[in-house]
Formats: sequence, C-alpha cells, structure tokens
Amino acid sequence: MRGGAMAQQVAVNVVEDRAFTYDVFLSYNSAQRDWTRALARRLRADSFRVFFDEWEMPKYIGKTWIDVLSQNIERTQKVILVWSPEFFNSEWTSFESNILQTQDPNGKKDRILPLIHTPCDLPSRLKFLQGLEFSVAEGESRTAEVGSIEFEFRYQQLLYNLDPSRPFEGDFEQFKNHYQERQLTDNQSRVKDADSPPLSLEDEASHLHQLRSVIYQAPRYSTPTYFLDPHLAVVQWNVAFELIFRPILSAIRRRHVNYFIVELANQNEVFDHAREFTERVKEGQLPLVDLEPLVYESPDYGRVEFVKIATQLTDRDANLKAWSVALLLKKIDWKLYLRDLEERLREDRLWGLYAVSYDAVLRGFGPYRELVQDVIGAIPDRATRVLELGAGTGNVTQQLLLRNYSVTAVENNPFMLEQMAAKALHSNRKLTVLVESVENTEFDNRRNFDAAVAVNVAYALEDPLRCFRKVAEALKTGGIFALSTTHSNTNLDALLEAIKSDLVLQGKFDEYREHYERLVSVNRAIEKTIARRYSLEQYGEWLVETGFEIVRSEPRYCDAVEVIHARKL
Ligand SMILES: C[S@@+](CC[C@H](N)C(=O)[O-])C[C@H]1O[C@@H](n2cnc3c(N)ncnc32)[C@H](O)[C@@H]1O
Repeated sequence: MRGGAMAQQVAVNVVEDRAFTYDVFLSYNSAQRDWTRALARRLRADSFRVFFDEWEMPKYIGKTWIDVLSQNIERTQKVILVWSPEFFNSEWTSFESNILQTQDPNGKKDRILPLIHTPCDLPSRLKFLQGLEFSVAEGESRTAEVGSIEFEFRYQQLLYNLDPSRPFEGDFEQFKNHYQERQLTDNQSRVKDADSPPLSLEDEASHLHQLRSVIYQAPRYSTPTYFLDPHLAVVQWNVAFELIFRPILSAIRRRHVNYFIVELANQNEVFDHAREFTERVKEGQLPLVDLEPLVYESPDYGRVEFVKIATQLTDRDANLKAWSVALLLKKIDWKLYLRDLEERLREDRLWGLYAVSYDAVLRGFGPYRELVQDVIGAIPDRATRVLELGAGTGNVTQQLLLRNYSVTAVENNPFMLEQMAAKALHSNRKLTVLVESVENTEFDNRRNFDAAVAVNVAYALEDPLRCFRKVAEALKTGGIFALSTTHSNTNLDALLEAIKSDLVLQGKFDEYREHYERLVSVNRAIEKTIARRYSLEQYGEWLVETGFEIVRSEPRYCDAVEVIHARKL
C-alpha cells in the first residue's frame, strides 16, 4: 500500500508490497457504480492503487473476465465489497465473493472489507463479518454521498482499516467538531476576509443601517417572484420570473392573476384553490400567507414545478398594499435555467452599475450629445408620437420631450430608471414609461407612432428580429426607425480613449476617475459578451425583413457605433 502516512512502515512492507499490484479491489453491483466510482477516485487521490473494473478491464482485451478477476483479486491486498441488496442478488458479485472466499475462507487474512452501502439481509456465510455502514446517520438507511461530512466520517474509518497508521475516530460528534475546525483553519487564508474577527455590536448596527438602504434591490435577484396589487392584478415581476415565463409575459402584464392561472398546466387545481381562497376572503378571513403547487410547461426549460408562497405586503397602518408571490423551484431543466439566469442577472447588474457612471461621464461628452442629436435628427418635424427603446437614464428621452413629442419610453432596468427619475422627466405629461423588456412589450396603440428611436440598445436585445417586427407594427406607414448600435466589427478603444482625453482636457479626470474606470470595465465586459454579437449585415437584413428600407447608415461616435435611419414601407 502507498498510503501517505505509511512512510515509517515502507521498509518493513516493501517485500510484501511488491507482491501486490493493487492495494484495493472494489467489488460492487452496477446499481452502485457511480457511488463506487466516486469512492475509487477518492482512494486513488489518497495514493491507493485501486482496481476498479471500469478503469482496469480495457487492459485485458481477449481474456476471459473470470481469469482476469480471479488473478487480480489475488494480486490485491484488500478487497472492498460494496454491500447492497443488489450485490447479493447478482451472480457477478457472488462470483467475486466466492473467489475471495476460496482464497480467504474466513476473512482471517483481513483481506475482506465489507462496506454497507444499503442495509440488507446477509447470507449466513457472511453474517460473522463486521461491515462498515456508509449510512447518513445512525439508524438511517440513506447512503452518505461522497463529499458529505457523514461520508468523510466513514471514509476515515475505512482508511484506518486499510492502513492502521492513520488516525481513527469512532464518535461522529467528535469527528464533526474536529472536521469543522479543520475546514475553518484550512480556509482561513484562502477565502476572502475569512480571518476578520466577528463583528462588534456597533459594527453590526452600522452594517445593518447600510443594508437597509440597498435591501430593496434583493427581491429582483431572488427566486422567481411576481407581485399583485390588492385586486390581484399582475403589476411587477423579477428577473428569474421574467426568464421562465417569457412566452406569456405580454398576456399577463397588468391583467388579473386569472390570466396567469390559465397558462398553468395544473390550472384546474389552481382555479379550485383560488375559488376557495375567495370564499375565505368573503367570510372575512383574508389569508396572510397562501401556499400551493404550480406547474408550467416551458418551451425553454421543460416541465417546471413550483411551490407558490404568496404573502401579504402591508403598509405602516397594516393595510394590504400588494401580494408578493415567490415561486420556489422544485423541478426545471436546471442546467439550462442556471446558465440563462446567471447571464441575465450579470447583465442586469452590469446595467445597474453602469447607470451611475453613465450620466456622470457621458452627459458632458460632446460626441455622445452629437450622437443623440444625430439619431433623433431623423424624426420628421411633423411627428407627434415617438417610441423610445432602452431609454436608460433618460438622456435621449429628455431631448425628445424638449422637441415636444409625446414619448413612450421602454426601459427594464430599475437602476437606470432611478437615474431617470432624478431628472424629474415624469412630471411631463407627455411621457409614458413602460418598465419592461422591449421584447415583451405590447404597444397598445398599433400603427400609431410616427417614429421609434433606440440609442445604443439593439446589441443588448436577445431577439432583435422580434423586436424590429414589433417596432414595425407600432409605426405608421412612412414612420422612421432611427437607431445606433455596436456590431461585430466594433472596437471601443478609440471611444474610451476619447472620453478620457475629454475628461483630462476639461480638468475633470481626477474627480471622475472612479466613474471613468467603471465605465471602462462595464464597456469591456459588454464588448466581450454582447456588443459584437450581431453584424451590420444582420441588422440590415432584420430591418428589411420587417418591412423597412434603410435610408442612411454611417459609422459615428468615434466609429464605435453605426447610425441607421430606416423608413417603414
Ligand atoms: C447603453 S444604454 C443606452 C441608454 C439610452 N438609450 C442612452 O443612449 O442614454 C442601454 C440601455 O438599454 C437597456 N436595455 C437593454 N436591454 C433591454 C431590453 N431588452 N428591454 C429594455 N431595455 C433594455 C439597458 O437597461 C440600458 O438602460
């Protein structure tokens, strides 16, 4: 055996050691293959030479497996039997045990180490052998999974049996305490700030104070959640909800929750539940919390199962103001969902960070102001109604309102909207802000807009073609769609340099350094992920396909974007 702690014994055992090709032979039933493979990897990582058939059998092509197994059991110092009901029902493993029994009839040479993966009735010939139970806890029959603390407890006992020079702990509680202490020490210098002392009471109070000012952001990034007004109309949802229910968002927004229920695969049960709920309300018992299962068939993530947890949100006077409906996920295509969710959350946070520095740096930057004028310059003077996509902090919106247009601005990032709110544009009654993703927006007034604008937004759209189609439907014939966007050939170096030089020239660089650096890091992240994902040709094709003719297309803004003016045919 080559176990690390055996250094002192090596000289004594060397002769015996050489006689063996393997330290451990693993005998198991295929029902426990994954678990046994994980155990084999663990033993291998601890320097044992392991015979695990999946790894070794390809060495013996053309030989009979009976010969191979009996030879290798002979060449192995210890044989681990992974006991389970399947183990004893299989001819294969009883064959292996038989070979072993003929070589070591009573286990007297200590070659057999039975591990009890799943408790089972033992054949009488093996009843006298002491096994090592790999169950989660005493009295429980669930098997300890590799990596769990229960597994570690049994594993150190197994190691002791393979190599008695290793430490042994028999009491699980004692093992757990030592194990946790070891984990803390091992990770103290390896996990960020883990060596900081616990917070003092004063620290805690001041940290809580800071937390209060930002905690309102948290529901946006939590489990899929939607919000209902007291009359059960859907008024808001968070990023995860938007991702899963993307195909039905326009059917449910601002509508009674019944429109959501009809989209569910278990709508009959949910309607029954809703009727009972209503009866209880009529009897004067408004439930504070309401739980039930929901099921949705998603084209993206398969059958999705949730537990709904609806909770009343009340004001200072205890009046019901809204319902928060969190959906705990039980089943979904986790791989796809987590990939998409991570991407969406990262993007959302990116815009959130960008919002603050965007205005600080860009509002005073001449080429940005020129770009805005260049895009909106395409709107004819006689126009009255303008649609704005991805309004951000409202810089373009402000210019459109100055020109006296009625503006419908769509923007889905609350932090961008916070910056917009600071400009007090909402007091202008000609402005309507739709807090939603452009992809999911339904424009009530079809063919009613004279123009649509999208300054530096199109590259951020998940489905530009669908979006352009919606814009085309919203515009009158002859209406103008003016946009600027990055594309596959974009390089942001010149733009970022120009912004810096401008700040330096104005003597503001030191004051705005932090904002500038944030702007650079966000733009670099965008450049890597989304800014270059569509080509100019694609934009052109999508516009033509959705019924536009392109009347102008030119690089602008230090060549970072293309300005495109298109007319609806
Ligand atoms: C670079 S900023 C441009 C903001 C504004 N148009 C301007 O020029 O000042 C892009 C904006 O598009 C928004 N956005 C990105 N994808 C969106 C989508 N699918 N629906 C609505 N807004 C979106 C972002 O939140 C961000 O505010």
